[in-house]
Amino acid sequence: MAGGRITYKIAVIPGDGTGPEVIAEGLKVLKAVSHLYNFTYAIEEFPFGGEHYLKAGKTLTDEDIEKLKSFSAIYLGAIGHPGVKPGILETGILLKIRFSLDQYVNLRPVKLYNPQFCPLKNKMAEDIDFVVIRENSEGLYKGMGEFRNKGTPDEIAIQISYNTRKGVERCIRYAFEYTKKRNKKKKLTLCGKTNVLTYAWDLWERTFYEVAKEYPDITTDYAHVDATTMWFVKNPEWFDVIVTDNMFGDIITDLGAIIQGGMGIAAGGNINPTGVSMFEPIGGSAPKYTGKGVINPLAAICALSMMLEHLGEKEAAASVENAVISVVTKKLKSLAAGKMGYTTAEVGDLVVASLT
Ligand code: IPM
Ligand code: MN
Repeated sequence: MAGGRITYKIAVIPGDGTGPEVIAEGLKVLKAVSHLYNFTYAIEEFPFGGEHYLKAGKTLTDEDIEKLKSFSAIYLGAIGHPGVKPGILETGILLKIRFSLDQYVNLRPVKLYNPQFCPLKNKMAEDIDFVVIRENSEGLYKGMGEFRNKGTPDEIAIQISYNTRKGVERCIRYAFEYTKKRNKKKKLTLCGKTNVLTYAWDLWERTFYEVAKEYPDITTDYAHVDATTMWFVKNPEWFDVIVTDNMFGDIITDLGAIIQGGMGIAAGGNINPTGVSMFEPIGGSAPKYTGKGVINPLAAICALSMMLEHLGEKEAAASVENAVISVVTKKLKSLAAGKMGYTTAEVGDLVVASLT
């Protein structure tokens, strides 16, 4: 590539458990691909995670958020520690970054690279190739609600799904634009629950069909969330792009991850189209595998590919993805931790060797 040299500032949060091991492999691939495609970058590592919380008593401060705002992108390993009560790190770190940096889209591609690793019978690679666009800033994740009569037999716990017209519309617009640019089946499916959740999904449905008028060449479809899970298993080939709310998106993308081969390969991006976005493998910190060199780093490497694409390094992004495809189709025995036939670092090396 000709032209000047650009420096990307990447904030790296290796996080907990196996996070640091997979991020190390991602950074190995980043270094190699930066030489091949002639771009430069600077990394700053941040200690956020369970260990840091136990030592410093802090998850992530407002000053930390301000600092993160100065980066080109954030590369995250995993957050989750067996010694910390569930909820503290998730809300204090992961959700705090998503919300404070207004990363309002969670982009989760579901792509099968090797049919051998698909738990579904008779599905080819081309049958499983869709993208879930999960709203990432509102819904049930907003944390709104209350207890009434807490601790009494008459206790009531209320958890509110909070949906704003602006919040819903920006996500839906992103989804239409994405479907158009993706240029495959040009089909966008709204995944909701209009038959029961008649406030939230009325707003989503109205907004969806209003925005759809601006995209006459995109086929629109609607599926209830329960039916969507059935079709992921029965007819995944029906889908191209799916747009849904935060909670449904969380649930259906775990199913999506399994049909594409598991947490060893599933990656996602938390996108603020005009701000700082964050890329992560979508599996957790897998504490039982920590330090054993058996975890699959490909999900983190796929997250790296997404980050490069987002930064505008399209050729480098494609090179990383193609190297992953080559390793997944020609080398690995399995995508599961401990069963790959290679160590974590060896898989990273295989990807580097397959870069073109
Ligand atoms: C995910 C995770 C998070 C979520 C948790 C860890 C808070 O499951 O990224 O899907 O629910 O969004
Ligand atoms: Mn999840």
